[in-house]
Amino acid sequence: MSSTIAVLAGDGIGPEIIAEAIKVIDCLRSDFGFEVELKPAAVGGAGYDQAGDPLPEATLEICKACDAILFGAIGGLEYDGLERELRPEKGLLRLRSSLSLFANLRPALLYPQLADASSLKNELVAGLDIMIVRELTGGIYFGQPRGIRVTESGEREGFNTLVYAEHEIERIARSAFDIAMLRNQKLCSVDKANVLEVSELWRELVTRIGKDYPEVELSHMYVDNAAMQLVRAPKQFDVIVTTNMFGDILSDTAAMLTGSIGMLPSASLDINGKGMYEPIHGSAPDIAGRGLANPLATILSLAMMLRYSLQRPDLAELIDTAVGNVLNQGFRTADIADGGHSVSTSEMGDAVVAALSTLKQLS
Ligand code: IPM
Ligand code: MG
Repeated sequence: MSSTIAVLAGDGIGPEIIAEAIKVIDCLRSDFGFEVELKPAAVGGAGYDQAGDPLPEATLEICKACDAILFGAIGGLEYDGLERELRPEKGLLRLRSSLSLFANLRPALLYPQLADASSLKNELVAGLDIMIVRELTGGIYFGQPRGIRVTESGEREGFNTLVYAEHEIERIARSAFDIAMLRNQKLCSVDKANVLEVSELWRELVTRIGKDYPEVELSHMYVDNAAMQLVRAPKQFDVIVTTNMFGDILSDTAAMLTGSIGMLPSASLDINGKGMYEPIHGSAPDIAGRGLANPLATILSLAMMLRYSLQRPDLAELIDTAVGNVLNQGFRTADIADGGHSVSTSEMGDAVVAALSTLKQLS
């Protein structure tokens, strides 16, 4: 059966890295019989340029109709002056919210070939394999009321609301426990329950859901300590579950442990497993258009899509193997080259395609 994928390249390095993922899709099509239809659509600054909206109605419709969404990156300096509702980031946030993509899976996996690129000592990160499960459609990112208002004294104040309803906590907790069951059955829930009532509720509910998963060893950690532990002894973690904003911050930290944020994919899933797949790095306007970006996070996001939404774990496995092989062969983009020889964005994409073709010949 043919799958349909919405392809939202976005801004900055988005189009460059998506072009490499499309090469991989074309190779899966020609060499491995993968039947797929791609539906490109504008988002972020590109959406604003095209339709005056960072999430044009037509784009949302395409995303709703497709089996999965491949997302590049959004944001650029030229859009920073726009009113908040029109900024590229709003397009991404509305997409997550409109499609109820509440479960954000952010794996931090250290490729042994890249151990030297990590900012931590080798022995601390060797074999690192963490999954951060970030709540993505609630919390302070979406809570009401929010805004900037003028107080009685005439001073302005900014305010946001950190709110989680029980059902939001329960469903992300279940997702995290389910994932922990498929891994090493260790789950650490990260909160700030020593200060925040919302965290108190979070902790209570995660603990209660945990009763349904007796095999999973559940622990709780305050977010400040978790940030410290991630750079002190990251291998103590298997799965981490946390709120939207804490997850945003901790996943960037975890990414750096693996050597480069340019390597890390992500999946954002709804309750039925339909999802959007994107590299966790941003649009990197400073290097856009120069062939410097690492396309592997996007290519690995495609692998996650094949695994979680398109029920093709066989193809996902092939991509994972091909990426490992190109790293073994010494291909490095600048972010992971450690000062040594580096290849361009498209050379890296070509190398993955070549590795896939080699795997095809071996099969
Ligand atoms: C991320 C990004 C986004 C977020 C921004 C671009 C809105 O940092 O996906 O981690 O904060 O969620
Ligand atoms: Mg982030």
